[in-house]
Amino acid sequence: MSEKTPTKSPKLGNVYRTKTVDMQRELYRDWADTYEADSVGEFGYVGFETAAKEFASRVAEKNAKVLDAGCGTGLSGVALKNQGYANLHGIDLSPEMLTKAEATGAYQSVEVADLTQALQVGPFDAVFASGVFGFGPPHPEHLGILVNTLKSGGLAVLTVNGKGWDECGWDEKFPKELEKQSLNLVEQVEIPYLEIEEIRGILLVFQA
Ligand SMILES: C[S@@+](CC[C@H](N)C(=O)[O-])C[C@H]1O[C@@H](n2cnc3c(N)ncnc32)[C@H](O)[C@@H]1O
Repeated sequence: MSEKTPTKSPKLGNVYRTKTVDMQRELYRDWADTYEADSVGEFGYVGFETAAKEFASRVAEKNAKVLDAGCGTGLSGVALKNQGYANLHGIDLSPEMLTKAEATGAYQSVEVADLTQALQVGPFDAVFASGVFGFGPPHPEHLGILVNTLKSGGLAVLTVNGKGWDECGWDEKFPKELEKQSLNLVEQVEIPYLEIEEIRGILLVFQA
């Protein structure tokens, strides 16, 4: 299926057409070296920074043990570190992306993990994920996997790509998954996300 409206960058269109976990693993294996230049420079990706600021306004404890889920090359971890967080743990599907994340020095640990399968990590005081949900996988039915890594009362602050929200049926699927997985959604707000592409982000905040 091609997206309903084309992206300005054909490269970004290719990203949105990866429909399986194996395709995502291959995509990011081959993209690790140029991911940051493409995302920030060509697509105008600001979502990791806006989401990190939103996270900081909700998670006061800077020593909180934080999971950065789908941490990629570490853009998101560096943004969290710049907000003062010192106990960051990154997981990602792609070993090649994780090697870059580790080199940033922002993380206490990094580990390969698949967010569509039950996770053997945690518990965490808070979870952050930027740039991971939207087109998927992972899909709305996998949101609970992240919330389940939280300590009781902890917050999960996640972004959803607005184009993915509109084109992959989140309006219909998301409320059903909230009920099915008994997820406690405490906030849903729009944030600047992919500015050159003019794609909004949707910030979801869940409490365990
Ligand atoms: C758009 S990048 C975002 C990276 C980083 N959070 C950022 O803000 O720059 C998406 C990341 O999610 C990872 N990813 C995709 N599917 C995944 C899955 N099923 N499990 C774990 N990570 C996944 C990719 O390997 C990639 O590093």
